[in-house]
Amino acid sequence: MTNDDPTAAELGRRFPPDFTWGFASSAYQIEGAAKEDGRGPSIWDTFSRAPGAVANGDNGDVACDHYHRYPEDVRLMGEIGVDAYRFSVAWPRVLPRGTGTVNRRGLDFYRRLVDELRGAGIEPMVNLFHWDLPQALQDRGGFANRDSVGWFADYAHVVASALADSVKDWMTFNEPAVYAFLAHADGIHAPGLRDWPTAIRVADTQLRAHAVASEAVRAAVSGARIGVAVDVNHFVGASGSERDARAAAEYKATRDIWFLDPLFGRGYPAAGLEAHRAAGHLEGVDLERPPDGKLDYLGLNYYRQESVRANSDAAFDWQVVAPVEAELTEMRWEVVPDGLRHELLWLHREYAPKEIVVSENGAAYDDRVDGAGAVRDADRQHYLARHLAAAADALEAGAPLRGYYVWSLLDNFEWSLGYGKRFGLVRVDFATQQRTIKQSGRWYGEVIAASR
Ligand code: FCB
Repeated sequence: MTNDDPTAAELGRRFPPDFTWGFASSAYQIEGAAKEDGRGPSIWDTFSRAPGAVANGDNGDVACDHYHRYPEDVRLMGEIGVDAYRFSVAWPRVLPRGTGTVNRRGLDFYRRLVDELRGAGIEPMVNLFHWDLPQALQDRGGFANRDSVGWFADYAHVVASALADSVKDWMTFNEPAVYAFLAHADGIHAPGLRDWPTAIRVADTQLRAHAVASEAVRAAVSGARIGVAVDVNHFVGASGSERDARAAAEYKATRDIWFLDPLFGRGYPAAGLEAHRAAGHLEGVDLERPPDGKLDYLGLNYYRQESVRANSDAAFDWQVVAPVEAELTEMRWEVVPDGLRHELLWLHREYAPKEIVVSENGAAYDDRVDGAGAVRDADRQHYLARHLAAAADALEAGAPLRGYYVWSLLDNFEWSLGYGKRFGLVRVDFATQQRTIKQSGRWYGEVIAASR
């Protein structure tokens, strides 16, 4: 902690006693047990085996072994004092081939996890899709195939029916923009495709699948509350130039607003359509207006500022470049806590969601374990303190913020960057699977306690 950070007690007192404090995670990043109890392969099992796709050749076969160690992980959350946990269900555990026969043993894992959470007084928030599509469905075109709307709705129905009595908070998709664009246009996430029209189709199908799956969840769960987690970072022009400002606006229109406008019933944004069309991304794609997302709440995943520098005036001819003086995390992400306040208030003004939760926020740093086995991650604590202060600022300025979920409880498999990037408030020694609460984890507990 630096001297200007508020203390944990000062921060906690800025949030109402009924504010929801949680952790967020995702199945492929922590569960491991990739071949156990009938789980089918996912696109991340395939992708992580492609030479050069993931740093260090890492994969999620074992990950944090959370599939076996979930009681300990729930106990750690209880020790820190959170009241909610956002996790994702692995579709290939429940339906090994994506559709058809339900794998009871896979579904039972989530039943056990939910029971364990409720026993510890921790409210589960179930996210149905955090990128680990069954490989069998990718073999049929994945989300580029419109049939996936039905596949996803059927899967949602299976999970929602199984957990209906004990889960009220649901999410359909995590970061649909990252899934559509990083995985199908940039090729750096599974399934590793590089084709813009495919990425646009995937985005469109996710919006449709969200709507149909929401209906399936509402039909199965009385009193269900349904949201989606969007990644909205703080986009700015890298310089004061008009051209950089235009590039930043284009980035936002073609990515964040591309999903937000349809989710709030407005159809695709004109500026986004124009830029995607100019860049050739809509070739052969037939876009109709997607259905309203009818969200009970919006999840905001916020991590960083993205400074956009235009290379030319052409569509999509720009790059994200952190200024030399920028403060960076181990991900080389630009730390701008006030961007969180800014984006929360922008979402509130622009879309008026009924409620917002910060469904992910956190930072990777190169943690060191001292001789006594402790991790004094003052940098992560400093990151979190400033972001929580920004969230409190937004709350006080009228944003309907009801909860905050730190990414993440455990150090875990950070997608194509492998295990080298540690986001946990709890350290995982991947050789022994030993867990140790870091200084930031103890501190988070103090913030929570002070808010009550
Ligand atoms: C988000 C992802 C999450 C994790 C964090 C660091 O974009 O939703 O799985 O990788 O970034």
